[in-house]
Amino acid sequence: MNDYDRRPAADWINRVFCEDALTGMARIPGGSVDLIVSDPPYGLGKDYGNDSDKIADKHGVDAYLNWMEQWIDIALPKLVPTGCLYICLTWRYAPEIFVMLKKRMTMINEIIWDRRVPSMGGSTRSFTSVHDTIGFFAKAKGYYFDLDAVRIPYDAETKKARSRSIFVGAKWLEIGYNPKDLWSVSRLHREHRERADHPTQKPLEIIERMVKASCPPGGTVLDPFMGSGTTAVAAKRHGRNFVGFELNPEYCALIEQRLANETNAGDEQLAPVLAAAGK
Ligand SMILES: C[S@@+](CC[C@H](N)C(=O)[O-])C[C@H]1O[C@@H](n2cnc3c(N)ncnc32)[C@H](O)[C@@H]1O
Repeated sequence: MNDYDRRPAADWINRVFCEDALTGMARIPGGSVDLIVSDPPYGLGKDYGNDSDKIADKHGVDAYLNWMEQWIDIALPKLVPTGCLYICLTWRYAPEIFVMLKKRMTMINEIIWDRRVPSMGGSTRSFTSVHDTIGFFAKAKGYYFDLDAVRIPYDAETKKARSRSIFVGAKWLEIGYNPKDLWSVSRLHREHRERADHPTQKPLEIIERMVKASCPPGGTVLDPFMGSGTTAVAAKRHGRNFVGFELNPEYCALIEQRLANETNAGDEQLAPVLAAAGK
């Protein structure tokens, strides 16, 4: 029996609640999630069918940063001692938020998501911004991190180029390379097959990498701002549990739909937890 088998099944596990994360997270006991994947409103005025991304416009930057600090202080105690947090941001407020988080956690990486935006038009008084900034933070030095789960295989050409005898049988050539801190993954344009009806849906490839590297199999991922439910889908696909929140009822319906469409690939590992929770 491992530590995860010993965890009590809870009625909040593998559920997305259609409510404000700042109140809903109170029901999650402290020290019960392995990973927080967070993609909060960036403070840029986007329309999520609510005013959550308009705090900075309507009430000023300090009000937005205060709100960020509030949910961060509610979420962080939910982590186990080996737990980690990823937070998606833009350059605009990432500096302030990283400083805030560095007072509470150890910063492991700043990851740049290159959204592979094609070159056309764009800004004339600045360089066109084509990346998101992702902070990767750990609660403590002994944080969980499984690099082998996210290595990228070398392509055939590279392998062939390393065919000299000194490389034959080289473990690093077989197991693939570390994804590094620059993640070049196309954003989900309108016609993309993964695209759901959400304005800032993250590609699964990005969230899956976070889940596989930083949440042990059978562990639990918390996402306070589920949007279209990408974190829940990634967790389900890879045999991790999830819990999350989303304010907009239309997005909550979308999440249910996306989860229902998923193959039940991860269900073997989830089955004991679901059964114990009476689901
Ligand atoms: C940047 S989007 C998340 C996108 C998501 N990662 C995806 O891949 O679809 C942020 C989401 O947080 C939701 N939201 C904003 N404030 C919230 C709150 N207090 N509690 C729960 N959800 C909230 C918004 O409605 C929006 O859908």
